[in-house]
Amino acid sequence: MSALEIKKDIYWVGAVDWNVRDFHGYSTERGTSYNAYLIKDEKITLFDTVKKELKSDLVHNIYQVVDPTKIDYMVVNHVEMDHSGSLPEMIELIKPEKIFCSPMGKKVILDHFHNADWPLEVVSTGDSISLGKRTVQFLETKMLHWPDSMFSYIPEEKLLISSDAFGHHWATSERFDDEVDTHELMIHSSKYYANILMIFSPIVQKLLAQVKEMDLQIDMIAPDHGVIWRKSPETIINAYDRWSRQETIDKAVIIYDTMWHSTEKMAKAIESGLFQEGIHHIKMLHARKNHRSDIITEVLDAKAIILGSATLNNNIMPAMADVLTYMKGLRPKNKIGAAFGSFGWSGEAVKHLNQYMEDMGFDIIDDGIKIKNVPTHETLKHCVELGKSIAKAIKGK
Ligand code: FEO
Repeated sequence: MSALEIKKDIYWVGAVDWNVRDFHGYSTERGTSYNAYLIKDEKITLFDTVKKELKSDLVHNIYQVVDPTKIDYMVVNHVEMDHSGSLPEMIELIKPEKIFCSPMGKKVILDHFHNADWPLEVVSTGDSISLGKRTVQFLETKMLHWPDSMFSYIPEEKLLISSDAFGHHWATSERFDDEVDTHELMIHSSKYYANILMIFSPIVQKLLAQVKEMDLQIDMIAPDHGVIWRKSPETIINAYDRWSRQETIDKAVIIYDTMWHSTEKMAKAIESGLFQEGIHHIKMLHARKNHRSDIITEVLDAKAIILGSATLNNNIMPAMADVLTYMKGLRPKNKIGAAFGSFGWSGEAVKHLNQYMEDMGFDIIDDGIKIKNVPTHETLKHCVELGKSIAKAIKGK
């Protein structure tokens, strides 16, 4: 990739990671980018860096705009290694006059790099610095998604450099929202929200209210992953409002694992009941055939989550434990739940699935259905009826 001017004298100089397929347990099947931005003003300023392995891409892109040794300031909006892995080497190359970071950013930088002689300058919400013609205003965004995270806002340009917020994992040669397929863009953005930010939804709501109150004029949002929102920044702001309120639609997600297809037959019968009762937006997700990060993306806007597992060693199937541990951590809200599963002799799976749902605060609408060994057409009728009951609960909620 090449440096690209995104506004007059403001450049994208980041790196595109076409080949990354796993981001600490999140499947990035279409890669990602680590965006860094350079402003040429009286004080030349670099916002964020990139993953260590892609440092040469960053340096190459900066050289297309300016000799890196001419950079005066660096801004560290977030210290996670995808944005700061190359920070020590870039500081060594640039030798900046000042490095701006949040109060927690300073602590996290020291914890990560143990280098106390860097010229760190702490900035808090409301602080601003002048670059010459432009100003940078800082807004701490604690827990979005690390305690150190912050936004940099350039009012003269109506530009918000938003760190992880409003981003998505998607490697593209295009740099702007109007250059890519909108539907695909929103799929990647919702996956990012579901997997990275869902847990912090109440904080997102507060931040959106704060941004509204501050009346920030924004005509471009430049996140640290994915494409830049210039055509329609309000599209992603409105989506974050919906997602952080955990709005749901009339949709059911059946997540299951099966040993010898008995639990799968139950899943299909429940699906049939849902469909017969008018719920046609249903996702059937086998826990060993779908990645946990894709499953949680479907959970984000679903009104009903239906969990199925065969009993294995008095417990649930391991892939279900993986998905549910992950889901519980992300704290989905506003869900109806029900459980089902086949068993051979002890049959504890449904009890465990109900416990997960209780822990997550789901509205469990049925004690759940257990079927010994292989279901019959007769016993599957109970599953069809459960599907119908769930459909009625979805429509009534
Ligand atoms: Fe993209 Fe939290 O790092």
